Amino acid sequence: MSASLTSLAYLVAAVLFILALRGLSSPVTSRQGNRFGTIGMGIAIVATLLHHGMSGWGFALIAAGIALGGGIGTALALRIQMTALPQLVAGFHSLVGLAAVFVAAAALNAPEAFNLGTPGHIHPQSLVEMSLGLAIGAITFTGSLIAFAKLQALMPGAPLQFPGQHKLNLGLAILLAVLVVLFVMSGGSQILFWLIALVALGLGFLIILPIGGADMPVVVSMLNSYSGWAAAGIGFTIQNLALIITGSLVGASGAILSYIMCKGMNRSIFNVLLGGFGTDTATAGPGGPVGDRTVKSGNAEDAAFIMKNASKLIVVPGYGMAVAQAQHALREMADTLKREGVTVKYAIHPVAGRMPGHMNVLLAEAHVPYDEVFELDEINNEFSTADVVYVIGANDVTNPAAKTDKTSAIYGMPILDVEKAATVLFVKRSMASGYAGVDNELFFRPNTMMLFGDAKKMTEEIVQALGH
Ligand code: TAP
Repeated sequence: MSASLTSLAYLVAAVLFILALRGLSSPVTSRQGNRFGTIGMGIAIVATLLHHGMSGWGFALIAAGIALGGGIGTALALRIQMTALPQLVAGFHSLVGLAAVFVAAAALNAPEAFNLGTPGHIHPQSLVEMSLGLAIGAITFTGSLIAFAKLQALMPGAPLQFPGQHKLNLGLAILLAVLVVLFVMSGGSQILFWLIALVALGLGFLIILPIGGADMPVVVSMLNSYSGWAAAGIGFTIQNLALIITGSLVGASGAILSYIMCKGMNRSIFNVLLGGFGTDTATAGPGGPVGDRTVKSGNAEDAAFIMKNASKLIVVPGYGMAVAQAQHALREMADTLKREGVTVKYAIHPVAGRMPGHMNVLLAEAHVPYDEVFELDEINNEFSTADVVYVIGANDVTNPAAKTDKTSAIYGMPILDVEKAATVLFVKRSMASGYAGVDNELFFRPNTMMLFGDAKKMTEEIVQALGH
């Protein structure tokens, strides 16, 4: 395949990747977006293989790699629960980081294959790109492994901090920069290459360690961005246009996603990276502590009665709905209520659940009509006109402490103003706090009724009670 034909194929693949990202921005077009991405990647792989005039043995090796990796990926994707997606993504990113390290090592050892010079005499520009790809790849590798272990509960999710941690990280970052300069000046020394890898591996580990489980989704998206920049760096080294374009798209989209999440929590990325958030363990266990304050609790019949008499109900889903997989029962409940003449709408907070779009995906899976689903900005001033709000497994995203308590960990986070509705029904299993570890004073309000139980079971019971 000629060089110009390969470039053309890469261009087509790049356009498909951009269309994929565009498609993924809405649940309505996300499947189509996924298809564009898959076709684009297929074109990029075939063009790369044909371009290099590979031997039969080379083809066989690559086919075996694709079959093995693709097989493992397919098996994992089919078995994974929606709630475990963040750790799956973290696990996959670690492999992207490792791949960047391996490609950098290959380029260092066989520079002639990529027109980079000869061993020990590699062009300085290529060495800069190679060392950046290597360093970012190695940081992504260990950082993603720690993120995976925290999310999978293989290690404590709490922030692990020790005195002088940030100074140590800063020292290592400076050491890394010095090593990169020495490596470039040396023309590509093997020892310096592996020293860079070692320091970067340590840095990835130390950067992610102090970050609490609560901030892991932001970290995963940030590591996603890193993996993209690592791929782009390596793309520059081996002069592969497809890698440069794809890496940049991944790098930029991951960074934008991290920004959106931070904005949704009213935190800066530095605040997230400095760690320590989520250490507040002032959580109430099942049933308490409630002190001398009273909590009104009800059952499915009470909820069904209130809902039947409402003319407008807003559903606020959260992480608990995802855990309980209550979305299908929820749609059934909404369908029943709509038949009774109740207007039903869904309010989605930008960081409800544990990953961006978490709630939208689940509601789409249950075939909830898209025109009933609203973003925070679109629906927040409608709560005052709602008779009932059905908060199903959500907590932090409704907590008024974000507006009133300057000392709260979630102060400043935009929240859904559910308390403005006539009645607020909270479905959750206990009085426990949400992800941020902050108690929710709404549970004690006179217009709140707690429905203690599993989100799916409670919603199914409400559907039954509505039928009576
Ligand atoms: P949370 O505040 O974490 O509250 C979820 C609630 O669901 C818990 O209080 C829990 O109470 C309840 N629950 C758990 N399992 C349940 C079940 N089977 N049935 C019924 N209830 C169940 O969730 P949220 O309101 O969705 O807020 C999301 C939080 O995650 C925010 O703090 C946000 O900043 C953080 N976060 C989100 C993201 C993204 S991108 N979504 C990224 C980073 C951080 P019980 O234990 O009493 O049942």
